[in-house]
Amino acid sequence: MHRRHLIASAMAAAGLAAIPYGASAQAYPTKPITVIVPFAAGGPTDALARVLCQRMGEALGQQMIIDNIGGAGGTIGVAKAARAAPDGYTLLFTHMGTLAVNIALYKSLPYDSQKDLEPVGLGGTNPMVLVTKKDLPAKDFAEFMAWVKANQKKAQYGMAGIGAASHLGGLMLNSMMKVDVLEIPYKGTGPALNDLVSGQFDYMVDQAVNVLPQIQGGNIKALGVSTLKRLPQLPNVPTIDEAGLKGYEVTIWNGFFAPKNASKEIVAKLNQALLTTLADDKIRVRLTELAVELPSAAEASPDGLRDTLKASIDKWVPAVRAAGVKPE
Ligand code: MLT
Repeated sequence: MHRRHLIASAMAAAGLAAIPYGASAQAYPTKPITVIVPFAAGGPTDALARVLCQRMGEALGQQMIIDNIGGAGGTIGVAKAARAAPDGYTLLFTHMGTLAVNIALYKSLPYDSQKDLEPVGLGGTNPMVLVTKKDLPAKDFAEFMAWVKANQKKAQYGMAGIGAASHLGGLMLNSMMKVDVLEIPYKGTGPALNDLVSGQFDYMVDQAVNVLPQIQGGNIKALGVSTLKRLPQLPNVPTIDEAGLKGYEVTIWNGFFAPKNASKEIVAKLNQALLTTLADDKIRVRLTELAVELPSAAEASPDGLRDTLKASIDKWVPAVRAAGVKPE
């Protein structure tokens, strides 16, 4: 007898209705799906989630509603998603900071990213940009580094909490520049960017998807990109590696997850909607403008995302520990 029949017989014998979470997968989804974004609205995770979810919702025939639950570097929202019913109606869209990097930064986390979540698919990978307030007295990366070194007591960098992508970008930068600078935490780099534009703090390393419009509008300065190749959107901005910090390279992947024990059928339906979205020309053009690198179908598969998560844990946990950051 197949396992599913065995389970059904056992449930019938126990007087239980045999309607496991996966049983209604053919009809799924029959109502809107909530997608938890563990950062404030208006930031990079939110922006990418909104572009993808709108099209995925069309493919699924149901709306996907973003629920921004920011705070504690994304850990509050991720924990809520991990504890939700695995019925396909609560999902998580988050990045590698909250699932891999922060393992090295917290003494204990309220979830195990590999055990408590089912990967659904990779949404995209983002380069980062070192941005400063407009009137910071540095016109290039070398002047920026000299300014930070000379102003360590008063320099401030913004980030979205411990373990956020902007924290990783900033801590690797500061560690390689050998400076100790005050961190200003926000619930997301959406609100942080507003404060950078109005000159409330000095600099931030944030995902291009968030900062490009403000750079292009001349409201902040871009002094380096986090990839080893320059970005076509910012051809005159050097890589941080070429500008003086050899080996500096940080990119941020973002993906969809369901709570653990979500059925294979539900995960497959969601993944199919993601693949349809990633193959849509309008979406591809929009995300490419925002410097988002789109995954291949294999990278966007549940197993592809599982492998990417593991590879990020293997890479970043020792790297962050080596940078000497003490867990909180
Ligand atoms: C981060 O730094 O982790 C992100 O920018 C968070 C966000 O989406 O606001």
